[in-house]
Amino acid sequence: MSDPKIIVALDFPGAVPALALAHRLSPELCRLKVGKELFTATGPALLEQLMKSGFEIFLDLKFHDIPNTTAQACKAAASLGVWMINVHALGGRKMLEAAQIAVSNSSKPPKLIAVTLLTSMSRDDVREIGIDTTTEETVSRLAQLAQESGLDGVVCSAMETELLRAQCGNKFCLVTPGIRPALASLDDQSRVMTPEAALKAGSSYLVIGRPITKAADPLRALLEINSQIRGLP
Ligand code: C5P
Repeated sequence: MSDPKIIVALDFPGAVPALALAHRLSPELCRLKVGKELFTATGPALLEQLMKSGFEIFLDLKFHDIPNTTAQACKAAASLGVWMINVHALGGRKMLEAAQIAVSNSSKPPKLIAVTLLTSMSRDDVREIGIDTTTEETVSRLAQLAQESGLDGVVCSAMETELLRAQCGNKFCLVTPGIRPALASLDDQSRVMTPEAALKAGSSYLVIGRPITKAADPLRALLEINSQIRGLP
């Protein structure tokens, strides 16, 4: 099976617009990300419909709780048959290890990745909650913790990709939002990279929302991005 690099973020309030968009795309060209808003509105039924159409799903629910609760949530998410799930690395080693064990015991284990620091957190926000290292140090430390706990990878900003690729080696999965094709609107993203630059810096997969979902022709936008990155690792 092909391994599309683009994960389209289905940031919609309900099943109707999400399915309408998905039906304009193709599972050969992309995977789909379902996050808290859409999943809370629709539940697993939507995932089933998307998977029936052939799409692999990144279920972006960012679990963060005590180890047992997180592990049970991961077990339930894995049983839905999705391709990738995630947790917050700030839940700590015991939580990460419990999540990893729960996933690896499932019959069809999804990839399990961790969010390091939310990119919406400024240096001041991070300091305010008592973390006094630089963003790079914190992200690097949390990625190391995720890797030591047996996770498959992390979500990271394109700006951190090069650092983490060097630190974590070639097999570690780096999933990168904040991607904007050249000339595309930035929307509310500030530090962005083009798809080509992010893959060259070491990203494994690119999360792209509005440049595709809000395009007049989403399939064409997806095909254009895929043609820009063809042949890249
Ligand atoms: O529309 P856009 O391409 O900006 O969407 C990016 C997607 O990636 C959204 O679903 C957003 O929530 C998610 N994301 C992000 N930055 C992070 C983590 C996730 O933009 N640090």
